[in-house]
Amino acid sequence: MSSQAAALPKPRYVEDVIRAAIVLCIFWGVAAFTVGVVIAAQLVWPQLSFDSEHLTFGRLRPLHTSAAIFAFGGTALIGTAFHVVQRTCRARLFGGAPLGWFVLLGYQFFIVIAATGYLLGITQSKEYAEPEWYADLWLTIVWVAYLVAYLGTVLKREEPHIYVANWFYLAFIITIAMLHIVNNLAIPVSITGSKSYSAWAGVQDAMIQWWYGHNAVGFFLTAAFLGMMYYYIPKAANRPIYSYRLSIVHFWSLVFLYIWAGPHHLHYTSLPDWAQTLGMVFSVMLWMPSWGGMINGLMTLSGAWEKLRTDPGLRFSVTAVGFYGMATFEGPVMSIKAVNSLSHYTDWTIGHVHSGALGWVAFIVFGTLYYLVPRMWNRPAMWSTRLIGWHYWIATIGIVLYITAMWVSGIMQGLMWRAYDELGFLQYSFVETVAAMKPFYMIRLLGGVFFLSGALIMVYNVWRTVRGQSEAAATLRPAIAA
Ligand code: HEM
Ligand code: HEM
Repeated sequence: MSSQAAALPKPRYVEDVIRAAIVLCIFWGVAAFTVGVVIAAQLVWPQLSFDSEHLTFGRLRPLHTSAAIFAFGGTALIGTAFHVVQRTCRARLFGGAPLGWFVLLGYQFFIVIAATGYLLGITQSKEYAEPEWYADLWLTIVWVAYLVAYLGTVLKREEPHIYVANWFYLAFIITIAMLHIVNNLAIPVSITGSKSYSAWAGVQDAMIQWWYGHNAVGFFLTAAFLGMMYYYIPKAANRPIYSYRLSIVHFWSLVFLYIWAGPHHLHYTSLPDWAQTLGMVFSVMLWMPSWGGMINGLMTLSGAWEKLRTDPGLRFSVTAVGFYGMATFEGPVMSIKAVNSLSHYTDWTIGHVHSGALGWVAFIVFGTLYYLVPRMWNRPAMWSTRLIGWHYWIATIGIVLYITAMWVSGIMQGLMWRAYDELGFLQYSFVETVAAMKPFYMIRLLGGVFFLSGALIMVYNVWRTVRGQSEAAATLRPAIAA
């Protein structure tokens, strides 16, 4: 911050919207993890759909993915984007509270109409872009308002410099708008809104869908959360970012490379071979900027590592960066065609997804929430540091159970599918591979229950913090009374 800016009075920041976003994000997190546990249980005991069309795995699965990515992750991003942009620009949110509320509540309305649609069987069957046209149109309006609020704040900033976190958030908002509009171009064919036909067909449809899908990973699940990393880790560690120059190189190389990597989802399909190879090459190159970012995040702690012992909230964020490094090493490996021929369609992909989703996305959100909650409600600290520690360990054990089970089951599944006997017949029937996975599905379910339990501990801790007391004070009081 410049010295003139430091001398200026603090603007009246819009904070109610951020507080509401925190509460909603926690609510959606618990909902998403619960549905995750339910579908994990259904994969062990299929009868848990109770013969109801509304509760089938096929309908609950998109409910889980959307609740986790868009409701939990997206609400966290809206809340933190508004917090980060106001603080780093030293300016009140453009459009003030009315525009902020419109974006937050408009987005919640989108989630509700999308989710109810899934349960009723309304879907355009594009992964991560399941909502039909009426929900898509509404989201477009909300998203433009989001961009106006964010960009407007950057433009009227009091701080001359645009801090790097803003670059990441802006790349996320602009790219998601572009992906959303292009992938969802469709012609509605029913007045009730329940059916439309995509403007794209055949292999072009597949290409556009995975250009969208992979960049939903790159810009929603990665770039925006990196914005969170670049603001909250230095804040919590009370140190500047390790290398500002690296953060700029990280930003430009990441956004340039990500956009080309989508075809790695379409290896060995009717997509032209050169396009598949292009996707593979760009994915392998992505390893470098990803690790540049990881190193930048981790090295910010150099000289302050002892803080990890006393601040379990920061421990969440730093572990998240570690998982980010792990997922972005595994991803390029899986994009190599020879490896993908084994991993594709198997649980290995599910393991990769959740090392990113649980380890990176959810952990960076938890770390940020533990930083933000006391500050947003003007409390000296979280109610209980001990409970943050419990959350951390229970959730970490949950992730380890989840991803190791999926690696073992995925690689076993892939190897069983390609095993031939000496006469050239397949060695295993499909159902034998399903039966072999059952023990691993049970371990994954246990991991999910651990992860959900950790989140419930956080709910309790946040609730006590908002009510305003510390655990130490609460346990002291009876002693004093005695
Ligand atoms: C308690 C925590 C969680 C559990 C138990 C869980 C469980 C599951 C299960 C059982 C599936 C279906 C796997 C299959 O089709 O074989 C799934 C898919 C998925 N989940 Fe989760 N999940 C959890 C948390 C999350 C979180 C926090 C995110 C994102 C931030 C997430 C994102 C996804 C995605 C993107 C898929 C689809 C993967 C693909 O199609 O390759 N999950 N999850
Ligand atoms: C350098 C970074 C990364 C690369 C190159 C990469 C690459 C890949 C590859 C090759 C697949 C398997 C595609 C298939 O066989 O169908 C995949 C799936 C996936 N990855 Fe990554 N990954 C990266 C980082 C991440 C991160 C950080 C996340 C965050 C959460 C993530 C989330 C996903 C999801 C959700 C899928 C499943 C998509 C689906 O089929 O539904 N990836 N990734």
